[in-house]
Amino acid sequence: MILAANFKMNHTRSSTKEYIDSLCRFLKKGNFDQDIEIYLFPPATALDSYECESVRIGAQNAYCAEEGSFTGEIGPVQLGEFGIETVLIGHSERRELFGESQELINKKFAFYKERGFEIFYCIGEKLDIRERGIEEVKSFLRRQLLNIDTDYENLIIAYEPVWAIGTGKSAHAEDIAEVMEFLGSITDAPLLYGGSVKAGNIESIISVEGCEGALIGTASWKVDSFCEIIERAQMRKRS
Ligand code: 13P
Repeated sequence: MILAANFKMNHTRSSTKEYIDSLCRFLKKGNFDQDIEIYLFPPATALDSYECESVRIGAQNAYCAEEGSFTGEIGPVQLGEFGIETVLIGHSERRELFGESQELINKKFAFYKERGFEIFYCIGEKLDIRERGIEEVKSFLRRQLLNIDTDYENLIIAYEPVWAIGTGKSAHAEDIAEVMEFLGSITDAPLLYGGSVKAGNIESIISVEGCEGALIGTASWKVDSFCEIIERAQMRKRS
């Protein structure tokens, strides 16, 4: 199971360090199953090689060039300094707020795949598509997966319906199940759900057939809240 915290534009370098220290202490004392993998995506200024073996650090965003004149961007050289080999690609906020086209996203995917990075690839429909029914949702998601190598061995797919992100309203288990089944017919990659995941719903989300974890925004920003999510997920798994 994968539980990943996306800090988005929250936390500083020093608060990220404090967060990781607390998280690491919590993981050590809780005797956590090795097969629960914890990831943290801090803002770029807080990327570092932290001394916490049980938490993998990834980048929320990275550009598809080795290095060069790309103001404001970071790439494999900057990530390599800290041994970071995990990157998030295609988040709906990158697509919507920063105008990342599917073409750019495909380029980023190919670039980081070529370098063997672990890629968390995010897909998800907006409300108007969801309201048109599951077949529309599937054909939209299919388009977001076009030209993405769904057989890539280091791929993780996060299904994050845009209407469920930051709204406090997670998708229903049946809706998630329907999408997981569809995605499972396309790829063997681990499938995550994201969108208003919190301690109160993590157990039902990871109980959905085919769902192998969660990508968590808001409820991961406080370390105690993220730890509670981890704890409940572990309890559910053991029961
Ligand atoms: P929220 O958990 O705040 O809905 O955000 C989900 C998300 O976008 C994770 O990438």
